Amino acid sequence: MTTSMEKPRQVVRKFLARPQHEGVGAVVRRSIGRFELRYFDPFLVLDEFSVSAPAGFPDHPHRGFETVTYMLEGAVTHEDFEGHRGTIKAGDVQWMTAGRGIVHSEMPAGPGTSKGLQLWVNLSSRNKMIEPGYQEIQSKDIACTTSDGVTVRVIAGQSMGAQSPVCTRTPTMYLDFTVRPHAAARQPVCAAWNAFAYVLEGEGVFGGGGGEKAGPHHLLLLGQGDGVEVWNRSDKPLRFLLIAGEPIGEPVAQLGPFVMNTEEEIDMTINDFEFNINGFEKAKHWKSQALVALGIE
Ligand code: FE2
Repeated sequence: MTTSMEKPRQVVRKFLARPQHEGVGAVVRRSIGRFELRYFDPFLVLDEFSVSAPAGFPDHPHRGFETVTYMLEGAVTHEDFEGHRGTIKAGDVQWMTAGRGIVHSEMPAGPGTSKGLQLWVNLSSRNKMIEPGYQEIQSKDIACTTSDGVTVRVIAGQSMGAQSPVCTRTPTMYLDFTVRPHAAARQPVCAAWNAFAYVLEGEGVFGGGGGEKAGPHHLLLLGQGDGVEVWNRSDKPLRFLLIAGEPIGEPVAQLGPFVMNTEEEIDMTINDFEFNINGFEKAKHWKSQALVALGIE
């Protein structure tokens, strides 16, 4: 790649995402959203999950943000209280806008272990109560391009001449890079946005200057600048996600899967969910097929 940058971003913080229990019997490696990093505006959570049946994420609600599920291995079947149902397979992405409310289940499909990532992207106050919706892109339809030993899959935004069709209400860039041994990736990133990298495989050197070495399950927060440089100085392929978003700059009030601006709005949301109103009407008599199959009342 020949993209030039005036000021490459430096790594300002580095975390190892350690496993923790979530859902029912599921284990996730949470990087954003854990105690040390409650919020990286506009990102609320980044989980790398690894789940095998019967564990999973049965019926639960969301309000006020978007969830982005990107599968690495296996598959996850989702179903919601509106009757929307499908299976996200390896390489597929589901960009779900919870908006005013979605209740759904997310369970591994088939035998073996299902692995993937889930990112929570916050919505601004004017978008928190919008109608829920889905953007689903199968692996074969994800824009992908290769140049000089660098392959990028464009989940959101654009890179190396390839562009994603995903509409992001909170402006977001989501790129999946694979860098061959002894190659380097350079990616412009809007200077006003917050950016981070998450390593999936191999080992890379991130950022300008001497750079910061990082391997699998490491989250690297990137400081100010107009782009990112990453080198693969090893003999194995390097795969990492580069994600950036425009900060919303609003107060965050969160109770688990409800993310609003104030505590009053959280109280209202609990009330709406409890009494099945203001977007949660269809939750009243709904139970996922996954939950029924598990025999859980
Ligand atoms: Fe969910």
